[in-house]
Amino acid sequence: MLFDMENPEGFDPYHVLTNLVIPRPIAWVSSVSSEGIPNLAPFSFYNAVCDEPPVVIISVSKREDGRRKDTARNILETKEFVINFVSEEFLELVKKSSEDYPPHISEFETLGIQKARSYRVKVPRVAKAKAWLECVLIKHEELFNYDLIFGRVVFAGAESLNYEVLKPLGRLSGRFCKIIEIAQG
Ligand SMILES: Cc1cc2nc3c(=O)[nH]c(=O)nc-3n(C[C@H](O)[C@H](O)[C@H](O)COP(=O)(O)O)c2cc1C
Repeated sequence: MLFDMENPEGFDPYHVLTNLVIPRPIAWVSSVSSEGIPNLAPFSFYNAVCDEPPVVIISVSKREDGRRKDTARNILETKEFVINFVSEEFLELVKKSSEDYPPHISEFETLGIQKARSYRVKVPRVAKAKAWLECVLIKHEELFNYDLIFGRVVFAGAESLNYEVLKPLGRLSGRFCKIIEIAQG
């Protein structure tokens, strides 16, 4: 199969990309608007990009009408966010939190997700998440129709660093996958 990614005909480049860059981790990002409304949404165009200092990137597409998603807008306004670790048990809630709620509606309240205070940032975290990264915005780039958010990880918490405890859920093509089987090496 060959795909001319610059002139796609009869295929969706998103489909090719997300089938060949696998698996991707999922950032369940909490943020707060300048009015103080907490927000929660998943992003799988996400990864760690350096470790000294630790920096992560999330890529947030604009909505079809060109509006910024609440997550990107909030982070640009308040400069902070938290990445909540996605364990297997959160699959349904993660899906529900990806729905397009208006900015004045908090996914935490609507979906009954308990919040907890973070240690270094004002943004709350998901109380039951088994791990989380507290981040401060250090760079924002607009790339095509995307907001690229670079966050410096200033604090992290984890019930364990063992993946058998964390039971990570990833994104595989357009679906979810468990990431627990280790190949040799
Ligand atoms: C598993 C999963 C991964 C997602 N990854 C992304 C992503 O990488 N970038 C993006 O813009 N939207 C992504 N979405 C869609 C957003 O979660 C969705 O647009 C959400 O409504 C954004 O919420 P907000 O306006 O509160 O920020 C993903 C959805 C799911 C379920």
